[in-house]
Amino acid sequence: MNLTEYIDSEHEAHLSELYEFLRIPSVSAQSEHKPDIERAAKWVAEKLRAAGLDNVEILPTKMHPLVYGESLRAPGKPTVLFYGHYDVQPAEPLNLWTSPAFEPTIRGENLYGRGTADDKGQVHIHIRALDAIMKTAGKLPINLKVMIEGEEEVGSVSLWEFVNTNKARLKADALVVSDTGMLARGVPSITYGLRGLNYYQIEIAGPAQDLHSGIFGGAVPNPITILCELFAKLHDKNSRVAIPGFYDDVAALSKAESKALNSLPWKASEFKKTVGAPGLSGEKGFSMVEQLWTRPTLELNGIWGGYTGEGAKTVIPSKAYAKFSTRLVPNQYAEKITRAVERQIRKLLPNTVKFKLEVHSQGKAWVAPYTHPFFEVAHNALEKGFGKRAVFIREGGSIPFVTQMHDTFKVPCILLGFGLPDENAHAPDEHIALENYFGGIKAVAQFYEGLGKL
Ligand code: BES
Ligand code: MN
Ligand code: MN
Repeated sequence: MNLTEYIDSEHEAHLSELYEFLRIPSVSAQSEHKPDIERAAKWVAEKLRAAGLDNVEILPTKMHPLVYGESLRAPGKPTVLFYGHYDVQPAEPLNLWTSPAFEPTIRGENLYGRGTADDKGQVHIHIRALDAIMKTAGKLPINLKVMIEGEEEVGSVSLWEFVNTNKARLKADALVVSDTGMLARGVPSITYGLRGLNYYQIEIAGPAQDLHSGIFGGAVPNPITILCELFAKLHDKNSRVAIPGFYDDVAALSKAESKALNSLPWKASEFKKTVGAPGLSGEKGFSMVEQLWTRPTLELNGIWGGYTGEGAKTVIPSKAYAKFSTRLVPNQYAEKITRAVERQIRKLLPNTVKFKLEVHSQGKAWVAPYTHPFFEVAHNALEKGFGKRAVFIREGGSIPFVTQMHDTFKVPCILLGFGLPDENAHAPDEHIALENYFGGIKAVAQFYEGLGKL
């Protein structure tokens, strides 16, 4: 049997193994899931060993462990670092899932469950591709290093230190990642740019304790009102971020790139359908693709305070909170943006309240040329896996490690994404199209084979 035939013959085995992985609720943001994080790391380590990797280790960090393994048995051949993450986003709100978040279920042409697309399903694509190469050829055609982390969804906070203290271990000719998406169904894609992300939490403190809103209302500041006023002032009427200096370093899009991105087969109608809102809004003067991939934003991600339970409770809350984030583009500096955000908040807030701003994570954008010969191998491999020519895209999401790796080693980063924009990553009913999962295994196996032939 050749490689593709072997992969096709293993459909059931691919899936039942993936189910095991998906059943582990490895939510990195919630401390009650720490044991599941540990279990997921062990599971990955076991599968890497089974796929024939050497020196597989679970490496502790300050937060969640990294799994590392390597196969350096192909002298003279390229060395590739494959990166992915085994942690997932929280599954809440659970009642909005059609089938339980951690019970993988096939409906129609998709596999549903937290982590199917982001990123367990995509990590598993590589594990199965490697396994298939080992089973059919008996050895890997290239040198491979694999690092699967458990903190991606909380900002990869331990990773900087790990990269800086493990340079020799991580050094490779290229980074390969499958944690992004395809432009659309039937359009295999290689991503050459991601936005960066700064994530913040703010606490606004007013009265020393909650107050009866009848006895006190009218004479004391309300932290929730003040929080709302603050955020209402952080955008202008053109949906631009109203923070002095925010756009100072933003790189302009070249004519050539603008033309390439705006002529991709990207359909606004499909995007609108996926969003499901009555209307859309975005920074004036830019096309939607530009707004999504090339422009920085500020978004509120959560807001709370006071009483939100059943029935009425008449209080002026003591405190109000928000989680919010800024997406960054080339050539913005993450730290500079944090300072600009803090300065503007300090300026806008009245002195009737106090505030605390926490910065959970910071990371700049990544965009790089796709001229290295490895990209052509990737392009051909995607064609073999999907029967279609791939397109080169940028995306709006963030993967801190890609930036770190690129900055540290200046190597090509090849992002082969198998998710789709409407697969509900981070939301209820997350899923992956089975076609892309199986196509992905074939394409990735062809990619590694192709690199071995260079
Ligand atoms: N896989 C995503 C990143 C992504 C999604 C890239 C879609 C391209 C398209 C990743 O797991 C993720 O969600 N990253 C976070 C950033 C992190 C610092 C919390 C994000 O983008 O919000
Ligand atoms: Mn991801
Ligand atoms: Mn994610």
